[in-house]
Formats: sequence, C-alpha cells, structure tokens
Amino acid sequence: MKKWLHNDLACPECFSNKNLLDLIVKEEVDDDVMEGRLVCTDCGAQFEISGGVAILLPKKTRHILSETSGYNSQSMLSAYLWSHFSEFFNGPNATEAYTIWSSLFDGKNGYAVDIGCAVGRLSFDLSRTHSRVIGLDTSLSFIKRARRIMKERSLHFDMILEGNITERQVCELNPDWNFDRVEFVVADALALPFHEDLFSTASSINILEKVPHPIQHLQDVNRVLKKKDSVFVFSDPFSWDASVSTPDLWLGGRNQGPFQGRGVDNMERLLSNGDGVFTPPFEVSKKGDVLWKIRKTENLWEYIHSQYLIGVR
Ligand SMILES: C[S@@+](CC[C@H](N)C(=O)[O-])C[C@H]1O[C@@H](n2cnc3c(N)ncnc32)[C@H](O)[C@@H]1O
Repeated sequence: MKKWLHNDLACPECFSNKNLLDLIVKEEVDDDVMEGRLVCTDCGAQFEISGGVAILLPKKTRHILSETSGYNSQSMLSAYLWSHFSEFFNGPNATEAYTIWSSLFDGKNGYAVDIGCAVGRLSFDLSRTHSRVIGLDTSLSFIKRARRIMKERSLHFDMILEGNITERQVCELNPDWNFDRVEFVVADALALPFHEDLFSTASSINILEKVPHPIQHLQDVNRVLKKKDSVFVFSDPFSWDASVSTPDLWLGGRNQGPFQGRGVDNMERLLSNGDGVFTPPFEVSKKGDVLWKIRKTENLWEYIHSQYLIGVR
C-alpha cells in the first residue's frame, strides 16, 4: 500500500471521522508498505497489509477473501483482463466500452475512487487528470493483478482459449496513464474506507446489481463524494439477480413499490431529487447506453448493454 493513501483512510467498521488509522509498517519498499497493519484508534479494528495489498474489509465481508470461485477465479481474471485491456492487443474485436466510460469524466481533477474496479482499467484512465486515484474491489485476485499492472506498467497474461489451453498476451499500455497516482485496495462498496467529502469523482460501473444492498452502496457514495464540485459516473445493466440481493432491495425491475419500473429511470430520479440518498442532489448532465463485451473463452462472449447516467453537483 502506497504510504500516501494512509491519511485518507477511515475505519470501515466504525467510520470514525475524528481519527486516522494507525499504520504499523513491518516491511516497505520505496514508500510502498509490503507487510504491515492498519489499526483504528477508535474501535481497535485491525486491517492487514499483505504482499502490498491493504485489506480494508469490515468483518462481515471478510469471508469473500477465501472464495476461489466467481470474481476470484482464474477464468474471471482472464475474462476481465481481456475486457479491460483488449483495446491494447486485440484490434477490431476489442470492446470500446471503457474508452466511452472514460470520456464521461474527462478533464475532472482532484481525488477519484473507482468502486468495483476489477483489474483497474478505469482507475488508470482516471489517473490522466486526477491527482490521486483509488480503485477498490472485494476480489483479492483482481486487486493483486491491478497492483501488478500498476507496478510493471505493462500487461502480460495467459488468456484462456478453451479449458486449460491458453495463449500468452503481452502488450504496452497507454503512455498517458500516471501509475504513481494510482493505488488499489480490497474494500467493500457498502463500507467505503474513506473520510467523508474526499472525492471529486466517484465511478460505480456495473456494480449496483452485484451488491447485496444497492441503496446502501449509493448512500456510501454520497458520504465520500464532495458535496460541491463533484461528479458521479454511474453505469449498470440492471440485470437484477435474486441470488445477489433480495427483490425487495432492487432499485428497479419491480411491478410495485417505490422502485417499481425500470432501474435507469429510478436512478435518474434518485440522482436528481436526492430522495434522502443524495444530499445535495445531482444534476444529470448526460445519459446513454454502452455496449460492453466480456470474452470468457474463444467461443463464449457476453454482450451487455450498460446504461449510464452522469451526475454533477
Ligand atoms: C460486473 S463486475 C464490473 C467490474 C468493473 N467495474 C467493470 O465494469 O469492468 C463487478 C465488480 O464488482 C466487484 N464487487 C462485487 N461486490 C462488491 C462489493 N461489495 N464491493 C466492492 N466490489 C464488489 C466484483 O469483484 C467485480 O470486480
């Protein structure tokens, strides 16, 4: 964990705004803490830094660390490395989705947080204009890989063709990315480990439908995003799944109740009138649709429409 991150962190258990987390360094290389611990001076909660990765999860989410399926699997790693970086090695087949999402926050500066960053593409794009960028995700496998890309400043990986047959991919990345300005941590979108009013940009791309309590995610975005002169880059396919969040917590795709109707319309309403979630509310400056592709194997591709809304306040 890069040492510059320390002062901006808040305890994801008690969210004390008064105190910093104490940083105990056991091993460090060039201002990068490789082994150590963060300790909350208010509630005493402890958070390990291991192999350079800070694990800033509250106790109730830590079970995710031991999972080897889903977003921690090898196949998902190959799929997301392709999805995020295929523009640099896969020519006409590549997905342009990230270039489109990146263009939505172009020019903004200050601090940025990329929530559910996976292997880090948007975090790197945010580093072109922002002075600090923090990418976070609950997948340790994704965060380790994002940190490796950040350190090596290039990409090489074994892309799955079929089953255990892989093909080596090696490529250079965008020379405009400022790798020194980026850091990645394991953290929960429902318990963001930061002080309030810290960020001028927050992105939540394709994650709302993946969290067990969608509105809690939005409330936490509101807490850490500046109340003035900030932008919220939001996009989601709204493919609600009862195995992720119970239908009574969905923010769309329902036939009755306050969130009946389509997710994108409800999100626009939430952003622009606040509904007690966004204080102050945002003005929706842009909206649209991005065609996003994920390549799982040579023969298995997922095509997804992700609907975006840009909120400014
Ligand atoms: C559909 S992927 C989208 C990844 C990336 N934003 C993109 O668009 O390429 C969802 C991501 O959210 C992460 N995720 C799921 N639940 C999370 C949570 N509670 N907190 C943080 N990240 C989470 C997953 O590990 C995964 O990387």
